[in-house]
Amino acid sequence: MTAPTATTPLTVADVPRLVAGLTLAEKAALCSGQDFWTTQPVDRLGIPAVMVTDGPHGLRKQAGASDHVGLNESVPATCFPPAAGLASTWDRGVIRRVGEALGAETRGNAVGVLLGPGVNMKRSPLCGRNFEYFSEDPFLAGELATDLVDGIQSRGVGTSLKHFAANNQETDRMRVSAEIDERTLREIYLPAFERVVTGAQPWTVMCSYNKINGTYASQDPWLLTDVLRGDWGFEGLVVSDWGAVDDRVTGLAAGLDLEMPSSAGVNDARIVAAVEAGELDESVVDLAATRVLTMVARAAEAVAEPGTYDVAAHHALAHEAATRTAVLLKNDHAVLPLDPARAGDLVVIGEMARTPRYQGAGSSQVNPTRLVSALDALAERDLDVPFHPGYLLAEAAGKPGQDRDDADADATLRAEAVAAAAGRTAVLFVGLPAVAESEGYDRDHMELPEAHVALVREVSAVARRTVVVLSNGSAVTVSGWQDGVDAILETWLGGQASGSAAVALLLGEAAPSGRLAESIPVALSDVPAQLNFPGENGTVRYGEGLFIGYRGLDATGADVSYPFGHGLTYTTFDHSDLAVDVDEVTASTAAQDAVVRVAVTVTNTGERAGVAVPQLYLGRPASAVARAPRELRGFEAVALEPGESRRVELTVSRRGVSHWDTVTHGWVVEPGALEVAVGASSRDLPLVTTVELVAPPLPTPLHRYSTVAEWQQHPEAWEALVSAIGPAAQMFDAAQGDPAHAAMFAAIPVVKVTTMGFSDTLTPEAFDDLLATYGEA
Ligand code: BGC
Repeated sequence: MTAPTATTPLTVADVPRLVAGLTLAEKAALCSGQDFWTTQPVDRLGIPAVMVTDGPHGLRKQAGASDHVGLNESVPATCFPPAAGLASTWDRGVIRRVGEALGAETRGNAVGVLLGPGVNMKRSPLCGRNFEYFSEDPFLAGELATDLVDGIQSRGVGTSLKHFAANNQETDRMRVSAEIDERTLREIYLPAFERVVTGAQPWTVMCSYNKINGTYASQDPWLLTDVLRGDWGFEGLVVSDWGAVDDRVTGLAAGLDLEMPSSAGVNDARIVAAVEAGELDESVVDLAATRVLTMVARAAEAVAEPGTYDVAAHHALAHEAATRTAVLLKNDHAVLPLDPARAGDLVVIGEMARTPRYQGAGSSQVNPTRLVSALDALAERDLDVPFHPGYLLAEAAGKPGQDRDDADADATLRAEAVAAAAGRTAVLFVGLPAVAESEGYDRDHMELPEAHVALVREVSAVARRTVVVLSNGSAVTVSGWQDGVDAILETWLGGQASGSAAVALLLGEAAPSGRLAESIPVALSDVPAQLNFPGENGTVRYGEGLFIGYRGLDATGADVSYPFGHGLTYTTFDHSDLAVDVDEVTASTAAQDAVVRVAVTVTNTGERAGVAVPQLYLGRPASAVARAPRELRGFEAVALEPGESRRVELTVSRRGVSHWDTVTHGWVVEPGALEVAVGASSRDLPLVTTVELVAPPLPTPLHRYSTVAEWQQHPEAWEALVSAIGPAAQMFDAAQGDPAHAAMFAAIPVVKVTTMGFSDTLTPEAFDDLLATYGEA
């Protein structure tokens, strides 16, 4: 056998031959890493090790000793806005370009796979890792992450879609069991993964630490094989989250190909022993080794020619992306944009203007190539604006992991800032310090730190105008202080150019264009998921079911501070001329076929350029199953010059009008009224119309416990049942008997009629005969 050499890199075509030449021990060894970040090499066959590294919004390639919580320095890489920010762009194009840059940096640093993105749902605003996730909405998260993955992989390197699945909290993440009903899993927690897998085929999927309904994700055959490969057609490799393996042999059989990091040979030996004992078929090991080597071959081809990239251009892209991520929540009296000619009226307050909070803590932490603060950006523009820190920030003292709780020092700094703000336009940089949100733990409230709230309140009481610039990775409540301020610019965590982006937006060099990818509730207690968060005794019950994010807030009718999809800019938009076409759904309509075609005209009615994001929501007002009042099913970011109009077309597939049916365990289309709404946010929907969705009736197979009402839906079967029951059947007929009785009896399982003495003729045997003809046994 010719082994690939350093000059003839391994190719995917070599893999079957190489696997055939491996010993069982070598194959088992390939199923786990060599160390923290590399796969196992097989020197005698010229199989190299390839490197995989974090993290979603930049490369975290550790140059020296490895650890996975970012303690050791990694090589400089562009720190783009984390997913919470990127998602707020609602712009597939921007995200794709960021992906391409991430791919180029990954390849350029000889890394084969970038470990991201994470598409877990933001079930609770408190999840410590929300900054790494896209949205509370699976459609938005799936659409945007598909472009990120496509962009990264277009550069010849891989991604790892994570954390599969239902890793929606950090509390107890390594063992908690997320108890989720089937429909909720399929409609809320899995679709973003599904969309990315079917749309972009990530090279790898990373299973999560937690259990789902009692089974570790790392050893769940339903999740890793039936759903991922069977239902969605995943072709790549499944890798464990770092340390997520519990029982390696069970995991391998379930579809977990690669364990990371290395188990120091412990699990390799267990795999070999299981095969030798006849407990594990060797073909399972062959398949996993084939998948690992396929990834290694693809990566080896890429890193053989790493290529270069332009660090300055990537910084410029990080700046552009950060200008697109910020969401202008409010802008009373058009206080923004600020007029640079009136800089003398300004005062900048808040340590975060000098020490930006620009990324989250944990495994995704990037060592940026540059870091620009808002103060740097103002200085670059020769704007001499007074600055007052206003509060202490541990990061400013180089201690990001600590809580600097010194109320007296905060009060002193605050007093100085308030004195300086009197009568001026105060631009206040506040947010969550690094210690407040991180991988590994959740927040226990969603307020800003007390010192920040006090600063906002006291400054806004004396300033002529107050502009608040927020930096936080997950939503914070604003209801306690927002009435006193004129403008709020939510910049999320903006990456290494967050400071220059904030200044460009404040001064109107760029227009805010972000839209909320997560709701901002008035109070945390309005969020239905909080009733069961973060669970107890190793279990978290997703009792709110489908109703996370705006779905829950809309269903309970709670007021929100700012709704999902909201975002202002420096111009205004008008939505008009809604047109909706609906195709009949038939048995031959495929899942991806367009069923609903919506067109809307969007016009820039103001005096500045801006990006509109028309959003399409669907509702099912008279559904037989539980439904959120509306669900996002389409959006498009559209750049418009003043006065410009654009006709935007959004289509929804059969799958987009389906729900998961727990009787047939599949996607079904319920016929009936479909409410189509288009507008600027989930609660600003000026264009609404109701159309009829024509589809075959939903199958309701008859079985032993079907009710009278269910039999009535099958005319032929009902007629036979009525004749078998005899005259007593009258009581089931509202027209012949008492309507109240008929309504009550409608809910009776027909099997009871055979035993409760209602009918002499519908004996248990006669009922069995009917079931044999019309129902399932
Ligand atoms: C995180 C993953 C990360 C991995 C490697 C884990 O703790 O959950 O997101 O990719 O470590 O650092």
